[in-house]
Amino acid sequence: MAKCLTVLGIESSCDETAAAVVRLSADGTPKTLSNIVLSQTADHAIFGGVVPELAARAHITHMDALIKQAMQDAGLTFDQLDGVAATAGPGLVGGLLVGMMTAKSIAMAHDLSFLGINHLEGHALTPGLTEGLAPPYLLLLVSGGHTQIVSVEAVGEYIRYGTTIDDALGEAFDKTAKLLNLGYPGGPAVERAAQSGDATRFKFPKPLKGKPNCNFSFSGLKTAVRQKAQGLEKVNDKDVADICAGFQAAVVGSVTDRLNNAMIQFSQQHSNLSEPVLVVAGGVAANQHLRAGLQDICQQHRFRLIVPPVNLCTDNAAMIAYVGALRLQRGDVDELDMSVRARWPLDPQGTPVPFAGVKA
Ligand code: KG4
Ligand code: ZN
Repeated sequence: MAKCLTVLGIESSCDETAAAVVRLSADGTPKTLSNIVLSQTADHAIFGGVVPELAARAHITHMDALIKQAMQDAGLTFDQLDGVAATAGPGLVGGLLVGMMTAKSIAMAHDLSFLGINHLEGHALTPGLTEGLAPPYLLLLVSGGHTQIVSVEAVGEYIRYGTTIDDALGEAFDKTAKLLNLGYPGGPAVERAAQSGDATRFKFPKPLKGKPNCNFSFSGLKTAVRQKAQGLEKVNDKDVADICAGFQAAVVGSVTDRLNNAMIQFSQQHSNLSEPVLVVAGGVAANQHLRAGLQDICQQHRFRLIVPPVNLCTDNAAMIAYVGALRLQRGDVDELDMSVRARWPLDPQGTPVPFAGVKA
């Protein structure tokens, strides 16, 4: 008989320092008791992207206070926990080490189970925390570091349908914004600028559209943006708006085309499902234009679209605590000599993709 488990989660794989406490009841119903995220975006903005060394130092500065606050918000002491879970990868090694060493220390001092969690698994299983959704379902993960389509078959069982062969989608938004002097992070800035733009003025390629498989590519699109901007004598606000609108339309065209292939594949492999589900996670899921495109493609293939709340779509520790609790409930724990992993594919069987690196 499963028992009720309470787990502290710690996330520090990129530029968010986060701590949360999640309780999983014996019947598997999760409850988030606290959830705190401290974004370092402002620290990195002047550099136009995340600086790994700065990120690691900021995690060290803020981690202890954040954990204390998460425990206070949950109204618990460490001895009332069953386990401590920290993101062990994939991500920036310096930051991962900060979170994982902190988790191991707490686990050791209070004789608790320790769990090193795959960050991607956190994103993949979030709909269980937010909507009580059980696998199987299709997941589109679009963040600053990852762009993947994954079939979530069961807890711990993932099939990667596709990944980016170069830039992540959020990275493409950020680079486009940088080219157009829109600041960092670029996604929200590009979306804002695109609102008043004419998407038909500049023609951008929809990367890999019509190609088989479910992979992504965004570096050519970024180059096309640079070429269009350089081809103009002087780039005014109208030009920026039109380029952003064109870029966004190309992105949506490409993503929905890749999803078209993924949905056909998923439906064939899960023909027993009456209403298959597509879940979107990652910071780019906040983009309204993309959401509209996803609604359309879901309608065409009769999928239900689930977009978890933005604070749980982006990096957070509640998803880490939740995966920790799920694994602990199955009697699964990690040793205290576990190492962090810069690269940690969700689907180790997935076909290797050249140049994908940590994004695979
Ligand atoms: O998941 P996330 O918060 O952090 C990680 O990458 O781990 O995603 C951040 C990314 C950034 O690249 C940011 O530019 C992008 O998500 N983003 C957006 C929007 N809001 C955030 N991209 C497009 N449209 C948005 N509204
Ligand atoms: Zn993430």
